[in-house]
Amino acid sequence: MEKILIIDDDKLSLKLIREILERSGYQISQAEDGESGLKMIRSIRPSLVITDFQLPGIDGLEVLTEIHKLNSALPVIFLTGHGDVPLTIKSIQRGAFDFLEKPIDPSQLRNTVQKALVSAKVSRGLSEVSSEAHEGLFEQYTLVGKTAQMKEIYKSIGRISHSKINVFIEGEIGTGKELVAKLIHYSGTSANHPFIRINCQSVPESLLEGELFGENRGAYTNPAQDKKGKFELGGEGTVFLDEISALSLNLQAKLLRVLQKMEFERVGGEEVLPLRARLICASNKDLETLVQNGEFREDLFHRLKVFTLKIPPLRDRKEDIRDLVIHLLVKLNKTFDSNVVKIGAGVIDLLSSHDWPGNVRELENTILKAMVLSTNDVLELDNITLSQNQNLPSKKPTQESRYRSIADLERYHIKQILEQVRWNKLEASRILEITRPTLNAKIEKYHIHRD
Ligand SMILES: Nc1ncnc2c1ncn2[C@@H]1O[C@H](COP(=O)(O)OP(=O)(O)OP(=O)(O)O)[C@@H](O)[C@H]1O
Ligand SMILES: [Mg+2]
Repeated sequence: MEKILIIDDDKLSLKLIREILERSGYQISQAEDGESGLKMIRSIRPSLVITDFQLPGIDGLEVLTEIHKLNSALPVIFLTGHGDVPLTIKSIQRGAFDFLEKPIDPSQLRNTVQKALVSAKVSRGLSEVSSEAHEGLFEQYTLVGKTAQMKEIYKSIGRISHSKINVFIEGEIGTGKELVAKLIHYSGTSANHPFIRINCQSVPESLLEGELFGENRGAYTNPAQDKKGKFELGGEGTVFLDEISALSLNLQAKLLRVLQKMEFERVGGEEVLPLRARLICASNKDLETLVQNGEFREDLFHRLKVFTLKIPPLRDRKEDIRDLVIHLLVKLNKTFDSNVVKIGAGVIDLLSSHDWPGNVRELENTILKAMVLSTNDVLELDNITLSQNQNLPSKKPTQESRYRSIADLERYHIKQILEQVRWNKLEASRILEITRPTLNAKIEKYHIHRD
């Protein structure tokens, strides 16, 4: 049972909130001033704190500051009266989860509490992540980040996880789109149902329709028996359509129909089947640009973006790098059964100076490489190699200057791009503005290999 602490010196409001939340199944503790509230946080370790602003002794904002010193991931909801707008804004700026105006509206209270608890679950603070790791309770799907942009994402996940609304996730490569999709799925009512992922880019066009919609015997690819598609396999759970920009215009039209009618038919089938799963679509390309170029249907784009989560690139939230490094170290140590538990001097500064075109995935790979090279339990500065930055002129003599011919440069550039997109040749050929056969020819000519 989730524990909630209420700090309020107004006995009537305290009683009211207590009753509403107890009826919803929460375990409630209460305190009438900030100091005893803080003491209780240490002893009972609640999952959420609801506090008034005006308290005898230290006030609500100070309580918030102290709470964050104890546990920065503990969500705090403020109770405010009319006209407390400046205080309210201040509290949100200082990291309060949300605020509720008195007199309390019961359904709003229940809603906000639920959102706060879900958000806290997905944004587990670092301290907790590491202690959980030691207890063997490491949560696979933890999203790290304390910047305002990331907090907005936690709030959105909290808001939608208990509904079936379709979601569109937009973000550059490696920003955590798949992780967010899984969090939406696993933090809501769908958690016990299937999570089905399909990458629209990696399935050949001719097979994709059958994969999505299913096929009846004797249909185009002539399956020996009826085959269920992803929409059916998703059941009451989630179907995650990754790289949606790779859908052909023909399949885009079909997907639009599914979204409009929430039903579909198998290829070669007559029966109309209901879509019960939630659809989460993701793209690392800017769909708006694709719409302008006529490569993506405008109507589908508008349908998709009804609920959009935009994940910011890592270079726009460099304050999160430190926390991410610690989180990724814990995660990689666990995966590879290694024990690199210290971070060398200067490492965070160096990592913060990089622009991370491959975002969190690139950061993860960089740390992994450094871990492999390390001979002790320290993530050493010397073992960190950063990819050449495409946009900024490097201060050091550029690596390129070591290459003499244009062919050398071309080989180097192609290899860099391929690594950045994890050898997704379609993507690489788009970035390089050459066709795929040309790319293949160059890979062969220059003997470029995957490391
Ligand atoms: N905020 C975050 N906190 C912790 N780990 C993260 C975060 N964002 C991304 N990661 C990790 O980074 C890696 C890449 O994330 P993910 O695969 O979800 O990105 P993506 O946006 O789907 O990438 P792509 O566009 O290349 O498919 C994963 O290992 C994921 O766990
Ligand atoms: Mg992905």
